[in-house]
Amino acid sequence: MKHASSSLKFVQWFAVAGTLSLAALVGCQNKESADSANAPDAAPPPVDSTAGKPAEDPVARGKYLVTVLACNDCHTPFKMGEKGEPEPDMSKMLSGHPENLKMPPPPALAPDAPWNWGGAATNTAFFGPWGVSYAINLTPDEVSGLGKWTEEMFVKTIKSGQHFGAARPIMPPMPSIAYKEMTDDDLKAIFAFLKTIPPIKNQAPPYEPPKGAPTGG
Ligand code: HEC
Repeated sequence: MKHASSSLKFVQWFAVAGTLSLAALVGCQNKESADSANAPDAAPPPVDSTAGKPAEDPVARGKYLVTVLACNDCHTPFKMGEKGEPEPDMSKMLSGHPENLKMPPPPALAPDAPWNWGGAATNTAFFGPWGVSYAINLTPDEVSGLGKWTEEMFVKTIKSGQHFGAARPIMPPMPSIAYKEMTDDDLKAIFAFLKTIPPIKNQAPPYEPPKGAPTGG
């Protein structure tokens, strides 16, 4: 019970954080369109009310969304860059937590300790009150990635915030509660883009619930 309520708190916290960053993005988009509408030589606003979303190739739209919604931040393993700062290793683009990188058990932290979650140097594995979560392979590899997923499964998964759209809740730090608010068209565009990226064979480890916690959900 204790675990369940503290993980819930976390899911809510991430929802808020995620929503704020999404709001910031949407805010920017609106500002841009407002600015161009105020420009003296601006063309009349498009009749189509899908503001900030011109009719666009879904794959291009999907690429844009994957970039600005930072999917690479967690689903692409980080390496140390030439400037001494960690950066996503794009040769492993969106392939998830590296299967050959076995993580030791996470540090034990008291439930009310001021620091209570953390992540791997690759930024693909995370621990907290929800257990240990690993970013999955989003490339179209048939076995370890999204190769066998249908568009419907993908949309349902993100919209429900549940593993495969039906099972356990998707754990933090995946901002699934924020992403739930995406339109079907945007989710379909993301899926269309993910189908076009190079498939990489890499089986991310399964989620590990907190010790002693019920696994259902
Ligand atoms: C802050 C880190 C983070 C970001 C950003 C992120 N993810 Fe995730 N994602 C994760 C983690 C961790 C998991 C595994 C969660 C689990 O096992 O419950 C995951 C799981 C998933 C899953 C699997 C859901 C399932 O059925 O289990 C999909 C699909 C996914 N992410 C897509 C995306 C897409 C698309 C984006 C960008 C729009 C994205 N993620 C951005 C961390 C992130």
